Amino acid sequence: MSPVRESITKGVVTPVREVPASIARPEYVGRKRAADWRGGDVHSPETIERIRVSAKLAAQALAEVGRHVAPGVTTDELDRIGHEFLVDHGAYPSTIGYPGAAGRPPFPKAICTSVNEVICHGIPDSTVIEDGDIVKVDITAFKDGVHGDNCGSFIAGEGTEASRKLVEVTHEAMMRGIKAAQPGRQVNVIGRVIEKYAARFGYESVRSYTGHGVGPAFHTGLIIPHYDAAPHHDDVIEVGMTFTVEPMLCMGSEDSHEWDDGWTVVTNDGSWVAQFEHTIVITENGPEVLTLP
Ligand code: MF3
Ligand code: CO
Ligand code: CO
Repeated sequence: MSPVRESITKGVVTPVREVPASIARPEYVGRKRAADWRGGDVHSPETIERIRVSAKLAAQALAEVGRHVAPGVTTDELDRIGHEFLVDHGAYPSTIGYPGAAGRPPFPKAICTSVNEVICHGIPDSTVIEDGDIVKVDITAFKDGVHGDNCGSFIAGEGTEASRKLVEVTHEAMMRGIKAAQPGRQVNVIGRVIEKYAARFGYESVRSYTGHGVGPAFHTGLIIPHYDAAPHHDDVIEVGMTFTVEPMLCMGSEDSHEWDDGWTVVTNDGSWVAQFEHTIVITENGPEVLTLP
């Protein structure tokens, strides 16, 4: 199940990197929690154009960081690359200062780096990437008042056949979920398709972390499960909606727990995980992926 290396342990986190004062911050930075979003998930063409810009930047940053995933590189170095790319393009890295659960510290870094059995929300630190690791990189850009959010899985070196299969199937599961997101359907169709496809390969789809409405808020309150949640999560997909589809598939059980850093989520059985994420907009012709470089 975990073919190559020892389990992941906490490394040393470097001080928070600076963002120039000229770059506007999201409302939640410096606050205890993010404001509740009450503006809905259907956006005007003008807002969608701004989301397009943030989403494209997030995708370009992800591609740039992904190019640097290799044995010997620390996850902190990946953070530096993602951080510099975003601020150089006038964007705020949405995760810096994102409030945690009650009594927990805010997220301190520009990207999430989640290695092997880490499902999501890994904090970049002194951890050195080893040959065969699956490194999930999640990057969100905030520019002109809106967020664009995406994630990819990168294997350091060749990886095992089992790891390559997991990564390939997770990407395909995301794309199938996106294609199912047609106007008039309930959002629960997305997870149904993803979970069914994952099961063909014996993979479990993580239930505790979901896709979400994204745009003027990082997480609008709309939830997009990656499992068959019917009859729940019956929100109807409408033209003009923007949200993420971001399945996490596990080689073993999806049961998970959080580290005492308040962020890092790992599988209980140590089984490895892959994730992909796109921000999409629903058009009259169906879903369109916005997080493309
Ligand atoms: N980008 C993640 C998502 O897909 C959220 C990360 S929040 C953080 O929703 F605080 F952990 F960075
Ligand atoms: Co997301
Ligand atoms: Co994300």
